[in-house]
Amino acid sequence: MKSVLFSRFFILLPWILIVIIMLDVDTRRPAPPLTPRPYFSPYALGRGSARLPLRRGGPGRSPEKRNESRAQPPPQPQLPTIYAITPTYSRPVQKAELTRLANTFRQVAQLHWILVEDATARSELVSRFLARAGLPSTHLHVPTPRRYKRPGLPRATEQRNAGLAWLRQRHQHQRAQPGVLFFADDDNTYSLELFQEMRTTRKVSVWPVGLVGGRRYERPLVENGKVVGWYTGWRADRPFAIDMAGFAVSLQVILSNPKAVFKRRGSQPGMQESDFLKQITTVEELEPKANNCTKVLVWHTRTEKVNLANEPKYRLDTVKIEV
Ligand code: UGA
Ligand code: MN
Repeated sequence: MKSVLFSRFFILLPWILIVIIMLDVDTRRPAPPLTPRPYFSPYALGRGSARLPLRRGGPGRSPEKRNESRAQPPPQPQLPTIYAITPTYSRPVQKAELTRLANTFRQVAQLHWILVEDATARSELVSRFLARAGLPSTHLHVPTPRRYKRPGLPRATEQRNAGLAWLRQRHQHQRAQPGVLFFADDDNTYSLELFQEMRTTRKVSVWPVGLVGGRRYERPLVENGKVVGWYTGWRADRPFAIDMAGFAVSLQVILSNPKAVFKRRGSQPGMQESDFLKQITTVEELEPKANNCTKVLVWHTRTEKVNLANEPKYRLDTVKIEV
């Protein structure tokens, strides 16, 4: 009897071992290699590409966990895309400004960057920069006519309109996807919390802006959840006394007001925001964000003009370096 049991055991043993080895090999199968990504970006690169969070398969992760992650994720409500329109122009600090912006935007989910150069063609510097920025983006250009390039005149009118036109064209044939538009000048500073706030914009939302209008901040005054006035030190007569960085507009509103644009004719500096907002909303309709407009989440920083007084005219550096 004993010998029969022994012989059965030895016949089954190799099979048991094979099954154990196969199970082990399967769970240790390495994860598929990650697609090549820009060296500093956890996100998929590409113009207009959907944003893919990096699959993390770090050493701390057990094989069982990895298997679990192959299961269908629970359906998530679609996150509205934030479209950030940034006018930009060539100057010594341009790449530094764009780098700071990209470092912020890269941390915001579902953000599409519309970068509009004030130029007759797309520059190599900006093209190269965007290609490595690791952000879904669109690169446009339109020059400001010479006659409007004067101190005291509004800036970036044509560039913001080019961004609006692109957005409208992109969505002309489909039902509007949930989206939010925001004008993100290249010299401001943006907190990540700002994007959480603006993402829930239904029509037009507003919030305070720091370091603007000759004050530490400007803000919409809110009573019972409604904007009733403006805390500002500069031209309080503006219908919407707010900086370009102080509001966001839903894509739906942009599409249902196809004629709303920034205007050159009759527009004074500081009135562009009011002239635009008047075309799409009323003060009563505004949605206050940032805890009823009591938190500063964006700053109108303005970068100091750099001192290049010691740039050499002769005996230049032996290498050509992009700054
Ligand atoms: C203020 C507001 O914050 C701006 O939104 C507004 O456009 C501007 O005034 C105005 O006067 O029109 P400010 O800091 O004085 O901003 O303006 P900039 O930051 O110098 O320019 C606003 C945006 O336009 C920036 O993104 C800048 O790169 C771009 N810009 C400026 C151009 O594309 N071309 C130019 O010639 C100048
Ligand atoms: Mn600025």
